[in-house]
Amino acid sequence: MKKTNILFVCLGNICRSPSAETIMNHLIESKGLQNKYYVDSAGIIGFHAGEPADSRMRAHAAKRGYTITSISRQFNPTTDFKKFDLIIGMDRKNVKDLQSLTIEEEFLHKIHVMTEFNKIFKEEGVPDPYYGGYEGFEYVLDLLEDACSGLLTELEEF
Ligand code: 4NP
Repeated sequence: MKKTNILFVCLGNICRSPSAETIMNHLIESKGLQNKYYVDSAGIIGFHAGEPADSRMRAHAAKRGYTITSISRQFNPTTDFKKFDLIIGMDRKNVKDLQSLTIEEEFLHKIHVMTEFNKIFKEEGVPDPYYGGYEGFEYVLDLLEDACSGLLTELEEF
């Protein structure tokens, strides 16, 4: 059976989307669903390409038992729109940027915003924690745990 390929996208691919990738994989593994899903992440910009995730983000995630090993890469419109079934931006700006990279209806339908899948937190987008403090990173993880759970529930219902 073909796997469902999921790509999480933020601006730099060092804070929000690598965390989403890690949390989603953690959830998938905890339910033994590894044979059904492939998860990756990318950034709109390539400024941090080749770098590990932000050390503050990794430290906050580690406190919750997540090890973020993802290396930053830039979104590739030529290959990623074809390869992934779901392309999920962390905020509205990420979604707008992704939409501006294609005119194909088939690809536009794949683009979503992460907070669409939240069940507990009602928020319009996952806020960028890069220039903020402690609470910002914790809030990102709260939102992502909620959204990943909502997303997997939705996928498993079909
Ligand atoms: P992210 O956070 O999009 O969640 O990875 C950011 C990381 C780096 C930058 C912006 C946001 N930056 O401008 O370098």
